[in-house]
Amino acid sequence: MADGKVLNVRGREVLDSRGNPTVEAEITTSFGVISAIAPSGASTGTHEVLELRDGGKRYGGKGVQKAVQNVNKLIAPKLKGMDVTDLRAIDQVMIELDGTKTKERLGGNAMVAVSLAAARAGAAANGLELHEHLVPGSKLLPMPMMNIINGGKHAGTGLKIQEFMIVPVGATKFSDALRMGAEVYQTLRTILKESFGPAAINVGDEGGFAPPFDDTRQALDAIVKAIVKAGYEPGKEVSLALDCAASEFCDQGVYSIDKRRVGPQDLMDYYSALVRDYPLVSIEDPVDEEAFDLMALMTLRMGRKVQIIGDDMFVTNVERIRKAISKKAGNCTLLKVNQIGTVSESMDAAKLSFEAGYRVVVSHRSGETEDTSIADLAVALGCGQIKTGAPARAERTAKYNRLLRIEEMLGKKAAFPGADFYKPKKS
Ligand code: PGA
Ligand code: ZN
Repeated sequence: MADGKVLNVRGREVLDSRGNPTVEAEITTSFGVISAIAPSGASTGTHEVLELRDGGKRYGGKGVQKAVQNVNKLIAPKLKGMDVTDLRAIDQVMIELDGTKTKERLGGNAMVAVSLAAARAGAAANGLELHEHLVPGSKLLPMPMMNIINGGKHAGTGLKIQEFMIVPVGATKFSDALRMGAEVYQTLRTILKESFGPAAINVGDEGGFAPPFDDTRQALDAIVKAIVKAGYEPGKEVSLALDCAASEFCDQGVYSIDKRRVGPQDLMDYYSALVRDYPLVSIEDPVDEEAFDLMALMTLRMGRKVQIIGDDMFVTNVERIRKAISKKAGNCTLLKVNQIGTVSESMDAAKLSFEAGYRVVVSHRSGETEDTSIADLAVALGCGQIKTGAPARAERTAKYNRLLRIEEMLGKKAAFPGADFYKPKKS
């Protein structure tokens, strides 16, 4: 085991997959320099921690020099000399130094980059893979939920629903699931190009196609067609999942979707019909981020059949998750480390969710980088699910490829969610 003392911490402004600045943090130790990069969302939840941006002219106001300075001038002096293997202590020092609920002093982007770098440095100090360092003995690879049609804020089309995902439920190991997903993705590409012309295979922020659709069912039908053409049985081998990001099309309780304006009750009927007509296993953010009671109603009506995920509603925040649990709103937490700012707090959010019988899906952001930490986090938590975009574009495939390597390293020990994972519950 190497001497795990933090010798220095440095920030740097780098670019994310959308070409916007983000924070990279570098931790110097006696055994090397280890770094991590903060991701960045587009359809962010109102209650996420603050992503500190400079304003002004540089990068259209999106520069992160202040956050970088906070790493260099405020965080670094406090962390120097600390044991890099004690992630919780490092995160706690930053939380206290920041002192705000919204992480607005240091910036959530500064903190998350340092926290992820500390996690990676701790793993290196212990001579362990990151997932093993975070949770010893972890071995459950996640089912990939691959976003193959992008809509909402991630594309420039009329699709209101943000993410149309495929879930290879019939796969018995991660590498098979990824291959099946990639096959369906490539088949969808051919179908879209043949049916709607070459412009239909332009891609959105998460690598999914952005065809000129303005109706949810058009997208779902195209994907089902692709699953069949790729040689798989919809619902048995490859199922579907949605991230509606409904706050983006909700205005004062009225939801504008598929060229209609519907109230809460009609919205429930709308989703019911989708669940009836398509092999959906998971729906994320089906309602506005503040509509806990409607989320609870949706969970009561459909929660045994499909996983109901809170993303913008829960924001990886134990207080928001606790509120959801008390109202029985949703049955699954989307876990994004940068929504809360530190790895330790996001692991607390997962723990609380599991204790209440909620599931957890580890997630990327629409603005991503080459950083692969979330792949390890998904394995560490043993949550059995990850969503990290299409099986295309390097910032997405970096995570999937990391999982391939983890699967290989674990060898016979590697586990994968069984075919029953998404089966409807009886009670
Ligand atoms: P975001 O989208 O990163 O733009 O917030 C991802 C999601 O909503 O899950
Ligand atoms: Zn989401």
